[in-house]
Amino acid sequence: MPPITLTAPAGGRITDEASRRRTFAIISHPDAGKTTLTEKFLLYGGAVAEAGAVQARQGRRKTSSDWMAMEKQRGISISSTVLQFTYRDRVINLLDTPGHRDFSEDTYRVLAAADAAIMVLDVAKGIEPQTLKLFEVCRARNVPIMTFLNKYDRPGRDPLELLDEIESKLDLRPTPVTWPVGIPGDFRGVIDRRDDQFYRFTRTARGATAAGEEMVSVERAVEEADPDWKQAHEECELLAEVGAELDVDSFLAGRTTPVFVGSALTNFGVRLLLDAIVDFAPTPTTRVDSDGRERPLASPMSGFVFKIQANMDPAHRDHVAFVRVCSGRFERGMTLVHGPSGRPFSTKYAASVFGSDRETIDEAYPGDVIGLVNASGLSIGDTLYDSEPVAFPGIPTFAPELFVRARALDTGRHKQFRRGLEQMETEGVVQVLRDPAGDPIPVLAAVGQMQFEVFSHRLEHEFGAAVELSPAPYRVARRTDEQTAARLSGVLGATVLERSDGTLLALFESPFWLERVKSDHPDWFLEPILA
Ligand code: G4P
Repeated sequence: MPPITLTAPAGGRITDEASRRRTFAIISHPDAGKTTLTEKFLLYGGAVAEAGAVQARQGRRKTSSDWMAMEKQRGISISSTVLQFTYRDRVINLLDTPGHRDFSEDTYRVLAAADAAIMVLDVAKGIEPQTLKLFEVCRARNVPIMTFLNKYDRPGRDPLELLDEIESKLDLRPTPVTWPVGIPGDFRGVIDRRDDQFYRFTRTARGATAAGEEMVSVERAVEEADPDWKQAHEECELLAEVGAELDVDSFLAGRTTPVFVGSALTNFGVRLLLDAIVDFAPTPTTRVDSDGRERPLASPMSGFVFKIQANMDPAHRDHVAFVRVCSGRFERGMTLVHGPSGRPFSTKYAASVFGSDRETIDEAYPGDVIGLVNASGLSIGDTLYDSEPVAFPGIPTFAPELFVRARALDTGRHKQFRRGLEQMETEGVVQVLRDPAGDPIPVLAAVGQMQFEVFSHRLEHEFGAAVELSPAPYRVARRTDEQTAARLSGVLGATVLERSDGTLLALFESPFWLERVKSDHPDWFLEPILA
């Protein structure tokens, strides 16, 4: 008798593969330790042999990359990095949120592709402005958040005080999973509150390899009469009394945040965090389409574009569209349908992209991110699908905070300027606002200075229209409606402009004017999320 082969049905394979995925982003303020933590994750994932390789790789890119000339000049990375590695037989997709000087709308958009976020706080600093902004984006999208209190190896604030800050500033209830033994600056280990186990750490050189961990039972810790452990244990009892217990359901619903304590640099507490990501971070679930219907994971391939990167290779001037897979199995070479136009889209040149390094990708499952090269016809938020049509809701845009006026330096290049402006708007490089009734000079709006620099650079080098950017007097924007727009027309320090998708934006010359209008007219429509 021939052997019986049991093959899982395709649908089962897809849901199995999806349940192996953990797709998340790290949100933090510059210098809190995002890069260091990423590097340690890769170390546990076996993706790099020794910590330091990520930075070394970045260093190499800075000198040898043929990516945009601007990146070379400034020595920074404009691309966001998507890293994939396996850990405990799970596929981890770590989406990088551009920070530092390259903060832009892309930073927000990446969160649309993540199923969860890790909020990294420096124990000496607590919640800093960029963390807060990114947190608000996660909250608006209901992205569950785990918290890592980093840099515990050096002097910092009392962790109980940091828990208070999380609760009061973010209205998010912290539930510590690990608790530090020793004070900031003299970090000995952590108690895992789930099983009371004490993990005593031993240093390796700058955490270059997995940290040495010795598991100490309660009995042994009592026997050894370690005063630091005793104090940490008492604090854990206190936490239990106030009910700060890990609760996976409320974490997934975005009401609580499991907290981990550690030091990315010395590699203390990182493994416990990574284990928790595997154990209870959400797996990709069915996405809801624009009509409110769920697209089952096992249905044919579908995904949406959350980021477009242009001109990675100046010799080819190509575009890479980053697509988050929402359902089905992606196979390189398959022809998808571009939702908005109904046109076929060939995926012969699909790649996984690490900064400017590309590797061809052959297959992908829900939760994965693919880079589609030659994607000049695609825009942010576009859906791509195979056989069964679907349209996912667009990616929300957030209120810009920086504004400039833009005009062509050489009036003879006005046509090129207009073409470039339209293209930059379609790609979401900047938002373009116009005064429907008056001033023909457009206002460019952004969340990070870098967006304007990319705009000017590309207009000059790609479209041959050098631009002049001059400051516009606005400081804060809100989405508004016709009725409120009409009422705002006589208000001091306020102007209403229109985006090409018809969204009306009320711009204020100072946050003070906005606050005043809001308190004088609480019924006026002024929304921070622009949709
Ligand atoms: P970022 O990506 O969030 O901006 O932060 P990054 O990881 O680059 O870390 C910023 C600085 O903080 C780096 O120091 C890094 O070594 C340090 N750091 C990160 N995690 C820890 C930690 O757990 N403990 C301590 N003590 N320091 C930490 P640097 O001096 O700017 O760079 P380097 O010379 O150390 O590479």
